[in-house]
Amino acid sequence: MKPLEGKSVVLTGAGGGIGRPTALVLAAAGARVVVSDIHEANLAQTLDQLRKAGGEAIAIRADVTREDDIRALVQGAVDAFGGVDGVVNNCGNSFHKDRDILSMEIDTWDATMALNARAPMLCCKHAIPELLKRGGGAIVNISSGAALSGQLGIPAYSAAKAAVISLTRSVATLYGAEGIRCNAIAPGLILHDRLAAVFPPEQVRVDAENILSPRAGTPEDIAHAVVFLLSDAAAFINAHVMPVDGGLLAHTPTYAQTRAMGSAGPNTVQES
Ligand SMILES: NC(=O)c1ccc[n+]([C@@H]2O[C@H](COP(=O)([O-])OP(=O)(O)OC[C@H]3O[C@@H](n4cnc5c(N)ncnc54)[C@H](O)[C@@H]3O)[C@@H](O)[C@H]2O)c1
Repeated sequence: MKPLEGKSVVLTGAGGGIGRPTALVLAAAGARVVVSDIHEANLAQTLDQLRKAGGEAIAIRADVTREDDIRALVQGAVDAFGGVDGVVNNCGNSFHKDRDILSMEIDTWDATMALNARAPMLCCKHAIPELLKRGGGAIVNISSGAALSGQLGIPAYSAAKAAVISLTRSVATLYGAEGIRCNAIAPGLILHDRLAAVFPPEQVRVDAENILSPRAGTPEDIAHAVVFLLSDAAAFINAHVMPVDGGLLAHTPTYAQTRAMGSAGPNTVQES
C-alpha cells in the first residue's frame, strides 16, 4: 500500500522548481494530485509529466493572490476527485525590490504578504471545510529557513514566511480536535534550475560550507518530507515546523570558520 493511496491532494506552485518534483513524488506515493500554478505553460508541462509517469492528476490554473481562484481550485478538486484530503501550500517567492527596510515600498511588502502569507491562509480557508467533510486531513505549508533566522535582505519575505509558521500553528490549534493536521516545512537552499541560474555562486559556496550534510538540497528532499507529513505515518505530528536544510540552522554560527581552521572545536581545551 502506497502512503497516500487514493488521497486527493491539492498542490500550489506546481509549475515551479520544488512544485513539479513534489507533484511527481505525490503521485508516486499514490495521491490523486490537483496541480495548480499561475503559469499555464509550466503547469501543462507538470501535468504532462505526471500523466506520463502514470499519475492520476488534473491541472487547474489559479492565481493564489485571488480568493475567487482559490475557491475555484478547491471546488475543482472536489468535482474531479470527490473531495480533498490534503493541501500543499507550496507557492511562494520573494521579489527583487525586497532588499532592506529603508528602501521598502509598501507595494513590495503587501505583494509579498499576499503571495506568501495571505495565499496559504485562503487555501486553508477554502480547503478546511472539505477536509472536515472527509473527517479530517492534512495541510503542509512551505515556509522557509528565512523565517527562522535573520537575513541580510528579503525582510518582507522572511516576515511573510514567519507568518506561515504562525498560520500553521493556528490552523492546527483551531481544527486539530476535528482531525486536521497542519505542519510547516522550512527548506534551506534548494537549487533547482531556475534558481541556480540567478543565485550568486559565492553564496552557494558559503551555504555549502555551513550545511552539515555533505551535499546540497534537492526539490525531492522537500517532496519526500511533504509526503511524510501528509501520510498516516505522521498521524501524531501536528503544528510542527520541520527544517529540511541539511542542518544549516542547527549549529553554532562559527561552524564553517572552525572547520576551516582544522580545529575539533572547544572540546580540546583539557585532558579528562
Ligand atoms: N528554492 C529554495 O531554495 C527555497 C528555500 C526556502 C523556501 N522555499 C519556498 O518553497 C516554495 C517553492 O519554491 P520554488 O523555489 O520552487 O519557487 P519557484 O519560483 O521555482 O516556483 C514558484 C511557483 O509559483 C508560481 N507562482 C508565482 N506566483 C503565483 C501566483 N500568484 N499564483 C499561483 N502561482 C504562482 C510560479 O509560476 C512558480 O511555478 C516557495 O514557497 C518558496 O518560498 C524555496
